[in-house]
Amino acid sequence: MKIVGIQSSPRGKNSNTLKLLDAALDGAAEAGAEVEAIDVAKLKIKYCTACNSCHEKGVCSIKDDYNGVLEKLLAADGIIWSSPNYMMNVTAQLKTLFDRSPLVTHEQLFDGKYGLSLTTAGAGIGEVDFVLNIMKAFMSNCGGNVIGGVGCAMAQGPSAMEAAVEKSREMGKDLVEAIKEKRQYPEQEAAHKAWRERFKYVILANKDHWTHNCDYWMEKGWIKE
Ligand SMILES: Cc1cc2nc3c(=O)[nH]c(=O)nc-3n(C[C@H](O)[C@H](O)[C@H](O)COP(=O)(O)O)c2cc1C
Repeated sequence: MKIVGIQSSPRGKNSNTLKLLDAALDGAAEAGAEVEAIDVAKLKIKYCTACNSCHEKGVCSIKDDYNGVLEKLLAADGIIWSSPNYMMNVTAQLKTLFDRSPLVTHEQLFDGKYGLSLTTAGAGIGEVDFVLNIMKAFMSNCGGNVIGGVGCAMAQGPSAMEAAVEKSREMGKDLVEAIKEKRQYPEQEAAHKAWRERFKYVILANKDHWTHNCDYWMEKGWIKE
């Protein structure tokens, strides 16, 4: 079983959020998974140019580090997303990765995968939950299920961080269990179904040029012709 953790703070080894990611990956490794951390802040990932190549041909036209990261995400059984709160959002580094992933969303390529979200913020719990939900929404829109999230508001002091590190370790272990038992999340499955129902009309409206997406939807039986 393979679990990939995405780090996206530009602060490298000084990152608060990395402490949570390291703990979650340690927990996953203790539970038997092969783990790998990818620091997207250190990679060269350019902005999406909206060229439509991924919709038309199923490949991104930009040649940089994104395709290698995507390959690893697609090969993983579980993905741990992590980002500090930057202006009530994920970091630009992680958002750039999200923006480069319309193929993953359009073709629901995280179907069957499980995720976990981790964040730290300067201020309070509202700031933490907001960013956890952004990462959860991305995973869900790509067809994956999220087992939960852990966050820490740094203003709450060192004991809150210690508790968040411990919780991250437990969640890392639980991610492995969720994958092993193919845990069911009826609400998230319903959300995937509703998403496909809505998105069907986008695929049909673009069927003459989004050839790759359209063929994929037909193969899956999500549209008929
Ligand atoms: C550019 C920038 C924007 C930030 N925006 C927010 C914010 O909107 N709300 C908040 O609570 N903290 C904000 N913070 C604080 C960070 O979320 C916090 O310090 C976090 O622990 C940093 O994580 P890191 O060490 O993993 O980079 C911001 C920090 C930076 C550098």
